[in-house]
Amino acid sequence: MERKIKVMSIFGTRPEAIKMAPLVQELESREQVESLVCVTAQHREMLDQVLDAFSIQPDYDLDIMAPAQTLMHITVKALEGLAGVLQQARPDLVLVHGDTSTTFVAALAAFYEKIKVGHVEAGLRTGDRYSPFPEEMNRTLTTDIAALHFAPTPANAANLRREGVEQGIYVTGNTVIDALTSTVRPQYTFDCPRLNQIDFQKERVILLTAHRRENYGQPFEHIMEAAKQIAAQAEGVRVVYPVHLSPYVRQTAQQYLGQVPNVDLIEPLGVMDMHNLMARCALVMTDSGGIQEEAPSLGKPVLVLRRETERPEAVAAGAVRMAGVESDQIVRQALTLLENPAEYAKMAQAVNPYGDGRACRRIADAALYSFGLLPAPPADFEAGAR
Ligand code: UD1
Ligand code: UDP
Repeated sequence: MERKIKVMSIFGTRPEAIKMAPLVQELESREQVESLVCVTAQHREMLDQVLDAFSIQPDYDLDIMAPAQTLMHITVKALEGLAGVLQQARPDLVLVHGDTSTTFVAALAAFYEKIKVGHVEAGLRTGDRYSPFPEEMNRTLTTDIAALHFAPTPANAANLRREGVEQGIYVTGNTVIDALTSTVRPQYTFDCPRLNQIDFQKERVILLTAHRRENYGQPFEHIMEAAKQIAAQAEGVRVVYPVHLSPYVRQTAQQYLGQVPNVDLIEPLGVMDMHNLMARCALVMTDSGGIQEEAPSLGKPVLVLRRETERPEAVAAGAVRMAGVESDQIVRQALTLLENPAEYAKMAQAVNPYGDGRACRRIADAALYSFGLLPAPPADFEAGAR
C-alpha cells in the first residue's frame, strides 16, 4: 500500500480560512495525504461564512471565540484546546497560515507535541514588532518553530534567509490568488441585497475596510473621519463598508458614518460577494492585509490605511499607495485619484506579484517532497512568469 502522511491544517480567522481553503481542497485531492482540518474558531460567524463558501467541514472545532476577546483569551483557550486535538490525531505535519494568534499558538502547540510545522504565507515582515500588532511577532515566532516555510514571493524568502533560515524555504505564490480564480465571475448576483441595488456604472464605489488592532483609537477615528469627508467631497461616489464584527470597530464606524447618506455600512460579506464587489468597485481603501493582495490582481487601485506594509511588492508596481492614518492625507490621496483620470489609470493596471494560481499545488508538492514522497521539490513561483 502507498505510504500516506497525515496533514492537519489549523486556522481560526476569516483571512486564514480564505487562504487555507484552496489548500485544504488541494490536499484532499492527493492520494498520499490524509487531510484533517481543525478550526480554533477565533472568529465564529466570519469563519463559518468561509467554511460554507468552500464546503469545508472541520474535523475539530474548538469554538473559542468570546465577545471583545483579549489576546490572552485567544492564546490560552486555543493552546488548551489544541493539546487534546494533537494528542488524539497525531498528524505528521501541521500547517498554519500567516500571523494571527491562532497561527502562533497552533505552531507552539505542535512544537510541544514534537510535530513538524509548515508555515503558509511565511516571511512577511515590516521590521516593527509593534506594527502590525500582534501580527509581526506572531509570524516571527512562527518562523522560529516551522520546518517548512512557504514564502509567497522571492522577497519574503529573502527576509527569511536574512534572519538565518537556511532550509525548507519554498517560494510558492500566495494561495489567495488560487482562491480568487474560483470566486470572481463576470455575471454575478450578490447574496447581500443592498449590493444588487447599486448601479456600478453610475456610481463610483469605494470599497472600505478597516479593522486592525494597532489602529484602534485615534488612527481608526481619523480613518472614519476621512471616509466621511471623501463621501461629502467627491462627486458621484458611494462608500461601501462591510463592517468587521469587532465591537470597537462597529461602534466607531456607526458613530462617524452611520448617518452619511452615500455611505453604506453593511454586515461582513461572504467571500464570493466580497471578491465580486472588489471586481466591480472603483477604488479600495483598506487596512487589511489580504485585500492588498487581491485588489491589484483585479486592477483596482488600493490606498492602504496604515503607516507601513509587509506587502511592498504591489506598492513598487504602482498599484498600491500608502495613505497613512491621518485624515487630511487620506482625503487628499483619494480625491487625487478620483478627480484625475491619468493618476487613476496609472494605478488601475492589473499586476500580480503575489501569485499565479498554483500556490496550493506547490505547497502540497513541497510537503510531500519533505517526507520523501516526491523525488524533487516544486519549481519556485516567479512573479511575471506564466
Ligand atoms: C484577527 C487577527 C488579525 C486578523 C483579523 C482578520 C489576532 C490577534 N488578530 O483580528 O490578525 O487580521 O482577525 O479579520 O489574531 N467577532 C465576532 N464574530 C466573528 C469575528 C469577530 O463577533 O466572526 C468579534 C468578537 O467580539 C471578537 C472580536 O470581533 O472578540 C475581535 O476578534 P479577534 O479575532 O480577537 O480580532 P480581530 O480584530 O478580528
Ligand atoms: N473579506 C470578506 N468579507 C468582508 C471583508 C473581507 O470576505 O466583509 C475577505 C477579503 O476579501 C480578504 C480577507 O477577507 O480575502 C481579508 O480579511 P481581513 O481583512 O479580515 O484580514 P487581514 O487580511 O487583514 O488579516
